[in-house]
Amino acid sequence: MSEKPIILEELEKVSETALSILAGIQEEEVLQTWKKEYLGKSSTVMSAFSSIGQQPKEFRPLVGQMANQVKQTLEAALEERAKIVLEASLARKVAQEKIDVTLPGREPLKGGLHPQTLVLRRIYSIFAEMGFQVYRSRDVESDQYNFELLNIPAHHPARDMWDTFHIDQPGVVLRTHTSPGQIHVMREQAPNPIRVILPGMCYRYEQISARSEIQFNQVEVLAVGKNITFGDMKGTLNGFVRRLFNADVRTRLRPSYFPFTEPSAEMDVECFVCGGKGCSVCKGSGWLEIMGCGIVHPTVLRNGGYDPEVYSGFAAGMGPERISMLLHKIEDIRYFWGNDYRFLEQF
Ligand code: PHE
Repeated sequence: MSEKPIILEELEKVSETALSILAGIQEEEVLQTWKKEYLGKSSTVMSAFSSIGQQPKEFRPLVGQMANQVKQTLEAALEERAKIVLEASLARKVAQEKIDVTLPGREPLKGGLHPQTLVLRRIYSIFAEMGFQVYRSRDVESDQYNFELLNIPAHHPARDMWDTFHIDQPGVVLRTHTSPGQIHVMREQAPNPIRVILPGMCYRYEQISARSEIQFNQVEVLAVGKNITFGDMKGTLNGFVRRLFNADVRTRLRPSYFPFTEPSAEMDVECFVCGGKGCSVCKGSGWLEIMGCGIVHPTVLRNGGYDPEVYSGFAAGMGPERISMLLHKIEDIRYFWGNDYRFLEQF
């Protein structure tokens, strides 16, 4: 009978030492070091396994059994300890990272509607009360729609009224006004009666200043039908202005010129800052210009598919940025599209 291999004793000893060290471990990193030491490749347990072949035959099963047993014991103990260490570290974190509920909270940024969205919605709802629908047409137009069909032929001096952005493709422009929408609606609706407003961005190649931007909104008004008169236009536009500003604001129509309306006018409202006496807002005149308007030119009606002998209509065009400037006494049109939060958050 051979002597009892010393590995058996070593295994017993190492198991005892390992377990007692393990019981004192508080940190995750130390657990890892422990694991390497007592269960790693060069640990006593692992070398016991690889020593089996060199052990006396009759002890081989015993060495195997013993090594297995120690391995399982150590693994189970490690798992157990790891749980405890994790729980303790969580508890420590919770205790250390206490939330101070007395600190003032960080206020989230509140979104809001753009001032022009707000004024456009007001305009839509006033016209909706009068039976006008919102119709949208494209920002990119052909020269034909933007000018020609509106009775502004090439080389007509009236083209100087609109400085245009052209693109590479000949005959394609960014619309300079919402009036080309008149032709689109008429061609779609003829010979039915029309009552629409056409809102949208317009573009002009201009020197940017406190009063002029290269991009701005317009709202076009168009009514077409039988027996529509200048009186209907005046009544509708007065109704609009009174709802927008106040019920007893005075208005006036001043003769003007547009190639697509005849007769044409400019509508002014009594300056609501000074009540018509004259101030810096109305530049001493007592009046504020608010929109262009007129009776739809027979040529334009015909281009839209309506017989001017049977049908008539009126049209108007206004700039909502200008209206906002009047309503809120904003001195510079560049604020609207400058994306300055300090301006936008005031609405
Ligand atoms: N389209 C004109 C402009 O941009 C405004 C207008 C529209 C005038 C409709 C009369 C009728 O200046």
